[in-house]
Parts: sequence; structure tokens; C-alpha cells
Amino acid sequence: MNEKSIGIVGATGQVGSGIVETLLKNNTYELLLGGRKIDKLREKYGKESEPIKYQTVDVFDEKSILSFCGQCDLVINAVGPSSLVLDRVANACMLTNVDYIDVSGDKTMKMAIEESITKYDSNISLVISAGVYPGLTEMFLAFLLQQNKEPIDNISSYFAGKGNFSETGAYDIISSLENDEGYGMTYYCQGETKKLTSGLGSPVNLPSPFHQVYTLPVISEEFMECLKDFRVVNAYFYNTFPTSKMLSDFIMIKAMQQFKTEAEKRGSARRLVDNYETQDKYQGFIIYIVWDEKGAKKTTWLQSNANWNYCSGIIAAITAMQMLDINLTNKRRCHYAQSIVNIEALFKHLLSTDYISIIN
Ligand SMILES: NC(=O)c1ccc[n+]([C@@H]2O[C@H](COP(=O)([O-])OP(=O)(O)OC[C@H]3O[C@@H](n4cnc5c(N)ncnc54)[C@H](OP(=O)(O)O)[C@@H]3O)[C@@H](O)[C@H]2O)c1
Repeated sequence: MNEKSIGIVGATGQVGSGIVETLLKNNTYELLLGGRKIDKLREKYGKESEPIKYQTVDVFDEKSILSFCGQCDLVINAVGPSSLVLDRVANACMLTNVDYIDVSGDKTMKMAIEESITKYDSNISLVISAGVYPGLTEMFLAFLLQQNKEPIDNISSYFAGKGNFSETGAYDIISSLENDEGYGMTYYCQGETKKLTSGLGSPVNLPSPFHQVYTLPVISEEFMECLKDFRVVNAYFYNTFPTSKMLSDFIMIKAMQQFKTEAEKRGSARRLVDNYETQDKYQGFIIYIVWDEKGAKKTTWLQSNANWNYCSGIIAAITAMQMLDINLTNKRRCHYAQSIVNIEALFKHLLSTDYISIIN
């Protein structure tokens, strides 16, 4: 048993379960699992025994999160909504000198954390966007770009997911629309985003069982950073929706920005969960990439038959295991997971699980 200890806040959630189960399979670390109710932790993971310990923690209570983080070498946050949690867990990690990973990302969170780094004069490793989207969407792109011998000028990436939202996830989707996270209706061109006049709601055929989906072009900071690292010239990213009705519902949320109170916003998140509750037993996601090579169209895709939230936990767990083995040199900033992980080792690990496959 490795003496290092990893703390997981939000351990009973959909993402938290993926983290805990992946770390237990690797059986190398002591785990401190946290949530607001110990009973829920016991119900899910059984009685405390090597290597698992439990602790009650509320990320909105500073004393409790400081006490939790202080016992670990690294803490992974899987508590949401991330738009409310923001830099709370990161701050506790800075104050207790413990490395930090978050499955969530976006520029608002990164800016909040970077402001705190200067305030606390911290020297720990801080990593965000260690989930599927953002996270694996960029890691898969980096994997392709690293493996391709020729530089790639034009590339398009499509993300599609099937399965139910958690209420926490739905709340975060609404917040990201409200906060204008990502650059909607744009594409990437030589280090900048440029406006698109088409591409909204276009039908695209993806491999089975996704079939026809409808596109929403959006460029994230994570995606841009990855493209800059590999000097890609033009790139497009499309989040996709299974029906055009679902896409227009999401656009309406953005257009109306109708939430006067927190209760209204929570209500809207609940409605999203209810309206889009699927009876489809298939859960999974796909990252589908198309690019030009010597005048010919090439495609590759990564597919998972597991829930997107659970897989986010797997990505965060692998990132954590890698981070405990390396010493990040540039610590005085908040990193996106894709830029600090060893991409080849991550995919070797991922492909050895039953959850992810890559089709060329
Ligand atoms: N990057 C990505 O691809 C990606 C994918 C999926 C999700 N996410 C993000 O990951 C986060 C978690 O999503 P999820 O679907 O796993 O949510 P979830 O299923 O609702 O789980 C939330 C977890 O946090 C705990 N929790 C809630 N409030 C807490 C608090 N104040 N203090 C401590 N623990 C608390 C909950 O347990 P108790 O209620 O018992 O405390 C539960 O264990 C969200 O922010 C979501 O947006 C990112």
C-alpha cells in the first residue's frame, strides 16, 4: 500500500463513484471519502476498513473542508454545482498545502482559482477540467495530434452523450449558458476565435447508436489551449443534441436568462432532468473527429458504453494517480488536466478498462 492519501469530496455522486471505484481497482492509495452524510457513504461503500475512511464534509463550511483537506496528499473535488462551489475546495487545498483536482472547469472557475493563487501565495499543483467534457474531449484531440506524423490544419470534433443528467450537472449547464462559458457560434483560427454564421442546428450523422444529432458550435478555453499547443490552423467543436427540440430548449435558456432567484434556477435544472429523462437503457458518449490529410477526409472516434458522469470520475482518478507520481514544475497557475497528464499513459490505462474504445 502506497502511503499517499487521496481525498474525494462528493464521493457518493455519479462522478465520485467513478473516482472511488477506479482508485479502489488500483488499490494503491489510502482514500478519505467525503460527503454531507456519513450514512450515505456507508450505504454505498460499506463499513470503513483499509484503505477507506469516511469524513463528513460540507464544502460551504470552511472549517469542515479545511479539516478534510488537511488529512490528504491530494484532494479531488466532485461536488457541484461547480458554478457555486467555484474555488472553495481549491482554496482549502491552498491553505492546507494539498494538491487539488476538479472534474469541472470553465473560465470563471479558472479565473477565481488564479486570483486565489496570488492571494495565498500557494505552491501546490492545481488542476481543473479533469472530466469528459471538458477533459477527455481535449485529451483525445491531443492523443490524435501527438500520434499523427503530419501536422493537421483543419479539424472538427463532435461530442454526443446519451443518458440522464444529474440535477447538479443540469444546474451547471444552465450556469454555463448564463455566464457565456465558451465561445458560442465560433470556430478556432490561428490562435483566435472567429464568428460563424452557420452550423447551428445542422444535422450530422454519427456512428450507431448516436445516429442523427444537431450541432451547437462552441469553442472552450480548454480546446483552444490544446489547439495552440499543437499549432492547428482551423478547428471546429460541436456539442450536439439528440433532437432539434432539445437544442432549441437549451438556446431558449440562454436567450431568456429568466432566473431572478436561486429557487427558480434550481427549478429549471429539475425541469431539464425531468423533461429529458430517457427510457433508453443505453448510456454512453462519443467524441468524433474529422480532419483533412493530403486532400482526403479522415475520421476517428472514441466511444464509451458507460455513463458520461461515471467516466469523468475515471479520468479524474487517472489524472490523480499520475499527479502523485510527477512533480509539476510550473505550480503557480491553475492547469487544465489535458496539459499536465501523460496522454499516452492515460490512454493506455483507459483502453485497458472496459469503458473506452477508439475506432479508426
Ligand atoms: N467535466 C465533466 O465532463 C463533468 C461531467 C459530469 C459532471 N461534472 C461536474 O461534476 C460535479 C458533480 O456531478 P455529479 O453528477 O456527480 O453530481 P451528483 O451525482 O449530484 O453528486 C454530488 C455529490 O456531492 C455531494 N455533495 C453535494 N453537496 C455537497 C456539499 N455542500 N458538501 C460536500 N458534499 C456535497 C453529494 O453527496 P451528499 O448529498 O451526501 O453530500 C454527492 O456525493 C458537477 O459540478 C458537474 O457539473 C463534470
